[in-house]
Amino acid sequence: MALVSAHAVASVAPLNTVATPAISLERPADLAQREALLDLAFGRAARLAKTSERLREGRKPADGLAFAAHGADGRVIGTLRLWHVAAGPGRPALLLGPLAIHPWFRDRGLGKAMMTTAINEAARLGHGAILLVGDAPYYARFGFDVALTEGLWLPGAFERSRFLGLELKAGALSGARGLVSPTGAPVEAPSLTDLIARESDAGALKRSA
Ligand SMILES: CC(C)(COP(=O)(O)OP(=O)(O)OC[C@H]1O[C@@H](n2cnc3c(N)ncnc32)[C@H](O)[C@@H]1OP(=O)(O)O)[C@@H](O)C(=O)NCCC(=O)NCCS
Repeated sequence: MALVSAHAVASVAPLNTVATPAISLERPADLAQREALLDLAFGRAARLAKTSERLREGRKPADGLAFAAHGADGRVIGTLRLWHVAAGPGRPALLLGPLAIHPWFRDRGLGKAMMTTAINEAARLGHGAILLVGDAPYYARFGFDVALTEGLWLPGAFERSRFLGLELKAGALSGARGLVSPTGAPVEAPSLTDLIARESDAGALKRSA
């Protein structure tokens, strides 16, 4: 896929009715709209209760592997991230998800374009394997297979038929056994100075309102 800017990773094939959404690396300005899109797609309580979330909470996504798609008006209409995990002891892998496309933009190939971009970028960056929990009929088209996760467990309830793997390097999940655990860099907690500054900014705004 064509690179369209330093941050843009891919552009989607022309759609019938809307301008072509661009897929790019996620930017800080995307974060609030990404959260809203995920709430819309999954429901906030349901998505935060997922076992996969236990592998993501408090961690940063893998470098260069958090993607957003923007509509013609610049709003976030698609999101996909990958996260560092260990697929059992000493076996680095990525966890893919969540993937969400805004309901108005579904069934036009954007999900496929985001998946293809993410998989290609992960391979280009030298990663060996991707895990995910999701609908096998959708993810099978990208090569994800339940057989590759047979020896692995997740830290909570999950349906084994939805726990899938993809090897980017041959044999990367061969013999993988054990608990999948998070290995991504922790999100830095704000310092006390930052918290005090935010508090006094909020107070000043209230006083001036
Ligand atoms: C799943 C999702 C990301 C697909 O995005 P999309 O842009 O509509 O997908 P694409 O246009 O690339 O592909 C559409 C195809 O996938 C199929 N598809 C969509 N969701 C599917 C699912 N859950 N299971 C099986 N197939 C599915 C469509 O029927 C269509 O099939 P076709 O190509 O044979 O016509 C999107 O529907 C979405 O955000 N859903 C809500 C959140 C979600 O379920 N995320 C995935 C977690 S498992």
